[in-house]
Amino acid sequence: MTDGEQVFADTIAKDQRVEPRDWMPDGYRKTMIRQIAQHAHSEIIGMQPEGEWITRAPSLRRKAILLAKVQDEAGHGLYLYSAAETLGADRGDLTRRLIEGRQKYSSIFNYPTLSFADVGVIGWLVDGAAICNQVPLCRSSFGPYGRAMIRICKEESFHQRQGYELLMTMMGGTPAQREMVQDAVNRWWWPSLMMFGPPDDQSPNSAQSMAWKIKRHSNDELRQRFVDMSVPQAEALGVTLPDPELAWNTERGHYDYGTPDWDELKRVISGDGPCNAQRIAHRRRADEDGAWVREAAAAHAAKRAGVPA
Ligand code: 3HC
Repeated sequence: MTDGEQVFADTIAKDQRVEPRDWMPDGYRKTMIRQIAQHAHSEIIGMQPEGEWITRAPSLRRKAILLAKVQDEAGHGLYLYSAAETLGADRGDLTRRLIEGRQKYSSIFNYPTLSFADVGVIGWLVDGAAICNQVPLCRSSFGPYGRAMIRICKEESFHQRQGYELLMTMMGGTPAQREMVQDAVNRWWWPSLMMFGPPDDQSPNSAQSMAWKIKRHSNDELRQRFVDMSVPQAEALGVTLPDPELAWNTERGHYDYGTPDWDELKRVISGDGPCNAQRIAHRRRADEDGAWVREAAAAHAAKRAGVPA
């Protein structure tokens, strides 16, 4: 083992942080850029489904809350691109990879938001799933990623709470509002379970990511944690989760639940979801519209640095 390999192995074994200037295996760097970039892409694309409802929010209060949440997601994305850049990645290149389909973003954002109840259900279930997935990532072995997660998780808690409160309000409203909430729950429950990734026996990256303490729990462990958290919340809300196999298993001390449609997850990941084309077209347009700002900023920086144009 070289000195670098030994130091890296000791760092991981002692649960310490790998920092950008430390020696690290190429595979570790590659995995971290892959995961952080896709996480950042998810945050940025994730602004679209809820962003569509900002102009149609039912009150100024709801509009202000939704604006704050969508703005938070943008900040999470930029924060995570900065973490990826500490590994030598370039955010312009990462954005091109996203737009050209060479990098992924979370499947969950390829579903349509059909009513304002979807805004509440996304806050409750999607941000709730994100919290289950992201809290352990606060202890990820790569320093900048783990530290970014601490701030992001604090803001996700607000996201989940505002969603749940919105749904509580609607469930106390008219029968039509209650129906809108149930319809949104029916559409978002299974895609939320798929956010945690394929089942462990179909997860090519998990074993190595857990050995490097990037991931602290497997996909199925975190999915189970999310189900156990959500069922009592659904009962308190007064909605039915669309899974007839959901039942408390006293022996396991967890809820049993049905099997997500893994073929659907594969289809959506490979670009064949309800909104994939729309999401990428929107991201491409935003990238093109913002090109002049990036060029002006770069020209200004070069001028300040005395670099000839
Ligand atoms: N959507 C899209 N791609 C997915 C996916 C999903 N739900 N689940 C898995 N994949 C991809 C993986 O990226 C991997 O493909 P790749 O090798 O080309 O990158 C492949 O499917 C196999 O999956 P693995 O389980 O082997 O991959 P990972 O070990 O990377 O685990 C993960 C997948 C659990 C999503 C992990 O990457 C992770 O924890 N990422 C960080 C968290 C994240 O990205 N969350 C996305 C949501 S962000 C969000 O919700 C924002 C909030 O504000 C709402």
